[in-house]
Amino acid sequence: MAVRAAATYSIASPYVNPKPNLPHQIKPATITVNSQYPLRGFSGLKAAADVTCESETSFLGRESNAALVRTFAPRTQNYCKNYQHHLNPQASYYKVAILGAAGGIGQPLSLLVKMSPLISDINLYDIANVKGITADLAHCNTPAKVIGFTGTSELADSLKGVDVVVIPAGVPRKPGMTRDDLFNTNASIVKSLIEAVADNCPQAFIHIITNPVNSMVPIAAEVLKQKGVYDPKKLFGVTTLDVVRANTFVAKKKNLKLIDVDVPVVGGHAGITILPLLSKTRPSMSFTDEEVQELTQRIQDAGTEVVEAKVGEGSATLSMAYAAARFVESSLRALDGDADVYECAYVESNLTELPFFASRIKLGRKGVEAFIPSELQGLTEFEAKALEALKPELKASIDKGVAFVHKQPVAA
Ligand SMILES: NC(=O)c1ccc[n+]([C@@H]2O[C@H](COP(=O)([O-])OP(=O)(O)OC[C@H]3O[C@@H](n4cnc5c(N)ncnc54)[C@H](O)[C@@H]3O)[C@@H](O)[C@H]2O)c1
Repeated sequence: MAVRAAATYSIASPYVNPKPNLPHQIKPATITVNSQYPLRGFSGLKAAADVTCESETSFLGRESNAALVRTFAPRTQNYCKNYQHHLNPQASYYKVAILGAAGGIGQPLSLLVKMSPLISDINLYDIANVKGITADLAHCNTPAKVIGFTGTSELADSLKGVDVVVIPAGVPRKPGMTRDDLFNTNASIVKSLIEAVADNCPQAFIHIITNPVNSMVPIAAEVLKQKGVYDPKKLFGVTTLDVVRANTFVAKKKNLKLIDVDVPVVGGHAGITILPLLSKTRPSMSFTDEEVQELTQRIQDAGTEVVEAKVGEGSATLSMAYAAARFVESSLRALDGDADVYECAYVESNLTELPFFASRIKLGRKGVEAFIPSELQGLTEFEAKALEALKPELKASIDKGVAFVHKQPVAA
């Protein structure tokens, strides 16, 4: 078997084995192409058997997007030794639905997931017409089949047999708005979409992007409970963008290669509830008090930075699509049996007294497989105080979500 034929199938940034006492490891998942089933390539990236290390520099650019480059053109030999995953490209893979697919996040997210070799079908759903987007995307010569569904009459069909549902449907922030200002509009949207998920694919992993995530996830949980199909291991608030931003800002500040930095971000996904644990950054490094203040604030305000720069044209879309695609890919790898998938996400949790909390989790075939409590131990004084300070705000957002559902009956 030619080792040079291996290809990663991960869009993920390095994820790190968080077990203490183990050396820092960057372990990108790789597919080692079984010579019996030569993985056919796609997106003009050549069949995997033809991918060479040199192409790492020729497609997306080495420095600009090392993580994405690594998806298609890995530094193969070492990784192959670490992780051997035989993929039969003839097998049927996973079905993903994107609800809100015509939007600023939905469109680039659809494109990124269309590049995944783990996906057989992508269902694009929106109340706006998605037929044009579907026709456009379907011309990309990657394996995933794309089908568009427009309007509530087609919602149920868009969810049948789906393994992962991603929800970026809703309104984004405008300058001067907080994520909480979006509550009323987006709460109704998420509630109705989750009712349909409960009726049509209750076993699916559910990824909620719609803001305020801190309240939308509790809303989804309550709706699923009322429908009798709640599985807390499979409901995720997508906070990956906070991690992506933290990794980017820390790497820039410390002049490190982007791909090598991993900062866990815990708490929630709004303002001070976003808590980067800089003391747990991998590789281990020290920060001055000023750096901690500055980086923490920038990570917490990064969404507002984008909202203001877009002057009324919405919030983060491209970076969010990238982050969401990473979380989708991680979920699919977990579903596919990869035993080493870690991400931060906002989930039902008993790590603190709060019922929902973002932290690093281990993902498995059935969803959340384990929490990593050690990451909340040994915090710096700054982090410990920030953790206490975020709790009342996060609790209020959770309570608001729960109250919203209990005021309104669930549709039959
Ligand atoms: N989790 C995060 O880190 C994060 C980051 C950025 C943005 N967001 C949030 O993501 C959401 C979407 O942002 P965007 O920039 O893509 O907004 P957008 O307005 O560009 O797109 C939203 C899409 O949702 C669709 N939609 C509205 N109601 C719907 C319904 N009932 N069913 C299906 N589709 C529906 C709209 O037609 C539109 O196409 C916002 O709530 C935003 O705040 C979250």
